[in-house]
Amino acid sequence: MRPLVTTPEEFTARWRTPPNFRIDAGLIPFSYGFPDARDVLDLVRRDPETRITVLGDNEEAVRTARSLAIRTAPIDEVVTWPFRLVHFNLSRFYGGFLGDFQAKVMIPWRTFLTAQGFTWQRCSPALFISGQGCSSTYHVDNSHGLVWQVEGIKNFNSYKDPDRLVPASVAISSAISAELPAPHDEADRLSVPMRPGDMLWSHALTPHWVTGKTALSMSINISHGGLCHHSRYSEREAALRRHWDSHPELPWLHDLRNRALSALRTPGRTWPRRRRSGSRPRPAASRASLARSHSGAGRPCSWNISGRIARSVRPSVGAGDTGARPVRVVKAAA
Ligand SMILES: [Fe+2]
Repeated sequence: MRPLVTTPEEFTARWRTPPNFRIDAGLIPFSYGFPDARDVLDLVRRDPETRITVLGDNEEAVRTARSLAIRTAPIDEVVTWPFRLVHFNLSRFYGGFLGDFQAKVMIPWRTFLTAQGFTWQRCSPALFISGQGCSSTYHVDNSHGLVWQVEGIKNFNSYKDPDRLVPASVAISSAISAELPAPHDEADRLSVPMRPGDMLWSHALTPHWVTGKTALSMSINISHGGLCHHSRYSEREAALRRHWDSHPELPWLHDLRNRALSALRTPGRTWPRRRRSGSRPRPAASRASLARSHSGAGRPCSWNISGRIARSVRPSVGAGDTGARPVRVVKAAA
């Protein structure tokens, strides 16, 4: 692991290219007193926008029963189950246990970024809670993430040299679902233990997977969509936008994943017919396919950049971002 980033100058020098890096707590302009993960779980699990996946090697009937009960079962029992929980819209709790989160966390962080010359299209927090030993899928996120470990211990795994193992072109276009990374040399792995208070910058469009090490683990990921420094995107995000230039039917899906799914499930809501004036509408057959795939089935799905839906045994609830997408590892580029 390369040294901690400890100054604004180091941060602005290193954010544009992989690999991920730790950020010294002294550079972070905020702190926050969260309730215990157990109490947060008990609060958040009841919210309809909370996504929970029950895991484990139990029989399918056991997992199904737990999935049906996990929002209402006694919390002392729930914390013994293996599960992953994610919530991408924490503003729903700004009137409750996150009442001063904007004032104490988001405004100081946005102010810090602005002072360094950054701009963005979206900067929002997501919550992740996982049970004993539970791990994320292997995936990439479309956005940069400031990963903030709040409680418990996780290993945040990525690659030391993503440009060699998973070039940007693969990260952008790949649609292969993966619960685990492909076999690789452990020497290529960048594995960062994340303890309470630790911060890590997760670079956009680089593959990663997170392994839990404690009974309960809770983290916040502040996701940055369209992040620029002095009007320049990171190299991988610039590659994504060049890809969009030749595939203009794709960008409207970016950062709309969760809202789009909500719209599909909401009676009376319709898709936007056009991304922007002059662009071609999404094919009707494709919209119908999306609707069929999500209409009440409750099956886990993950989006890929092509707009198709990749089903997996477990949902792609990653460690970081609304745009989590599974990818594959490729051999070194020629
Ligand atoms: Fe992630």
